[in-house]
Amino acid sequence: MIDNIEKIKKEIQDFNISNEDDLEAFRLEFLSRNGKIQSMFALMGKVPKEQKAEVGKAMNGVKVLAQQKFDDAQLELKKATRKEFGALDDITLPVEPTYAGSFHPLTQALDEMKQIFLRLGFNIADGPELENDFHNFTALNFPPDHPARDMQDTFFVRKSDDQNEQDLVLRTHTSPVQIRLMKNQQPPLRSIMPGRVYRNEAVTAKSYFQFNQVEGLYVDKNVNMGELIETLVMFAKLMYGSDVKYRVRPSYFPFTEPSIEMDVWWENEKGGQWLEILGAGMVDPNVFESVNVDPEIYTGFAFGMGVDRIAMLRYGIDDIRLLYENDIRFLEQFKS
Ligand code: PHE
Repeated sequence: MIDNIEKIKKEIQDFNISNEDDLEAFRLEFLSRNGKIQSMFALMGKVPKEQKAEVGKAMNGVKVLAQQKFDDAQLELKKATRKEFGALDDITLPVEPTYAGSFHPLTQALDEMKQIFLRLGFNIADGPELENDFHNFTALNFPPDHPARDMQDTFFVRKSDDQNEQDLVLRTHTSPVQIRLMKNQQPPLRSIMPGRVYRNEAVTAKSYFQFNQVEGLYVDKNVNMGELIETLVMFAKLMYGSDVKYRVRPSYFPFTEPSIEMDVWWENEKGGQWLEILGAGMVDPNVFESVNVDPEIYTGFAFGMGVDRIAMLRYGIDDIRLLYENDIRFLEQFKS
């Protein structure tokens, strides 16, 4: 009997378990109900009384050995599969931080601008980036031969010689949304219209073929230039701080009369300079007429400002191209 037990012990020790199949074969051979260990215990009844203690002890030793070998092999195999799938051995280790993404600097600057104008009583509207000649130029009082219609500045999607077919362009500014708004809504109206615009310009650190603007339009009875300037000064103070240095200059746009531009004084290590942040003016009566708003009853002001410039100033970004390349190493710096 003891010999037999020794033999099983040897078999257990020699059994090679190197995969799941081996493990199962081992279990069937030794540990299952019909396995060698159970069968061995079944013979206990035939063991003479005086040997029972010794034989029982030996059998138990073999059983523990087999179970131990099974458990160890099972653990090793699990570890091996977890390694293969890159799992950690110690699941209590703190996880490595993952980059969950962040808002693009343009989005952050735009959000700030929106908040300011919402506070000033404007609501938010938008329009399409693909426009026709009427909305982008004609209704905005661009004379037919105005240089801004030139192929150099405008991306034409369809340029037609047919009088009945309008040119299609990528909008060169957000001002066409003013036209859409006034066609669809009766005054009074007070909206900002953020969006992407396109110009066929050489790409440099300072200019790009696409950028973002926020258009503003306020139309009501008795809207005047003083309110326009008041609104813009308020914006500059909320955006750049109440001690911002600004100036307002006369300018020209076909769709506003009179027209102005606003600059803010910007200082960095290299010195200070005036930077233009927006164009604005009183809505030209010809624009009102193109959308059937009576210029004898209503007046209004409009403005258009660049979002990219504002984001670049805010974050000290000196190359506009960085805003559009979506390099993760650049974007990661703007976690807020
Ligand atoms: N659309 C003009 C531009 O792109 C800006 C502007 C908007 C000027 C509204 C006056 C009024 O430069």
